[in-house]
Amino acid sequence: MKELAGKKILLGITGGIAAYKSAVLCRELMRLGAEVRVIMTAAATQFITPLTLQALSGHPVHSDLFAAENEDAMGHIELARWADRILIAPASAQTISKLAHGEADNLLTTTGLASDASLMIAPAMNNVMWRDVATQENIKLLRARDVLILGPASGDQACGETGPGRMLEADEISEYVLQQFQAQSLKGKRVIVTAGPTWEAIDPVRGLTNHSSGKMGYALAGALHDAGANVTLISGPTALHPPRSVPCIHITSAQEMSDAVMENITGCDIFVAVAAVADYRPVSSTEQKIKKTAETLTLKLVRNPDILAMVAALEKPPFTVGFAAETENLIDHAKEKLAAKKIDLIAANPVSGDNSAFNSESNELSLIDSNGITHLGRCSKSILAHKLTKEIVRRYYETHPTKDT
Ligand code: C5P
Repeated sequence: MKELAGKKILLGITGGIAAYKSAVLCRELMRLGAEVRVIMTAAATQFITPLTLQALSGHPVHSDLFAAENEDAMGHIELARWADRILIAPASAQTISKLAHGEADNLLTTTGLASDASLMIAPAMNNVMWRDVATQENIKLLRARDVLILGPASGDQACGETGPGRMLEADEISEYVLQQFQAQSLKGKRVIVTAGPTWEAIDPVRGLTNHSSGKMGYALAGALHDAGANVTLISGPTALHPPRSVPCIHITSAQEMSDAVMENITGCDIFVAVAAVADYRPVSSTEQKIKKTAETLTLKLVRNPDILAMVAALEKPPFTVGFAAETENLIDHAKEKLAAKKIDLIAANPVSGDNSAFNSESNELSLIDSNGITHLGRCSKSILAHKLTKEIVRRYYETHPTKDT
């Protein structure tokens, strides 16, 4: 489908080994129907030839700020006015620094400064450079100006090291671009997302919890926010930063999560329960640390409230989406949960073996509702979050046909 038909994207390429991925990105944006013009910095041309990008985009590549032919072709001001979006991928530490400080010493940074189009950048650099305070300060400055920072991903790097700094893959970046153009489908809608594990205290230092990292829930909160929704994230303990502009209520136990959800549920349009909520908690938690005196110790547990089922049972429930993390019989168990909790949609994901969703960057989802099964396949949690958002939006408006189209 040509979902980007008529959209004008200015693709900026800076000097870094990830520039080879920009050719695939250009192709992918064109496949989606976008019109793409390319600006390369001088350093970028050391990694990939302008001819490659010219052949792929169907237009000459721009790289010289003072090129004489620009007088009758597209100069930086015209390129700046032409673009609906400026996407810089890869964005080097140097270009990020120049953008953060308003430096305009080459065609790309000058065009960026001269344009009102919103800017998206996909950083790519060595992990130590990425973590450096200077780079992080620059990223903070750009974020505060609503520049969308795509990634970077973590993993093996071309320099032989491992860590954050890899440019996202072309399909992930184009998914974000798509999302930007479809951004407002949930405008005016209130959404609550629960995420992460819960912690059920046994004593002041010990507790019952699980392997949930919160990544899927946080990615989904970000994707629903990108779709224009007014999202509140209610999260158990995780090591993650909530997505930009998404308010987060931090809780510890299932009971606290339940209280936070119920306090905020009035007027909520869509409720997505991604949290891995503990089914049981100790009947009581001791005030002092339990000493190891006895040979055996029995913990008495009591059931926690089922938050998702409670929300679905409200007199005027929001559109309810649950997750089923299963180690076996995934689809059957998910179907049972869909019926037992009386929810609108359930996303089933496997949590056993090599493909476990827990603590992983990727996940595999199958969606089940009263109409059957939709497989979203295995991909990164951020792509899945955007795909799932699209599916939620479609089903929500099928049951609440009030969207202005
Ligand atoms: O019953 P089970 O825990 O497998 O159901 C999983 C789904 O229900 C998830 O969406 C989870 O967030 C939600 N849930 C909940 N409150 C609980 C248990 C699960 O909201 N106490």
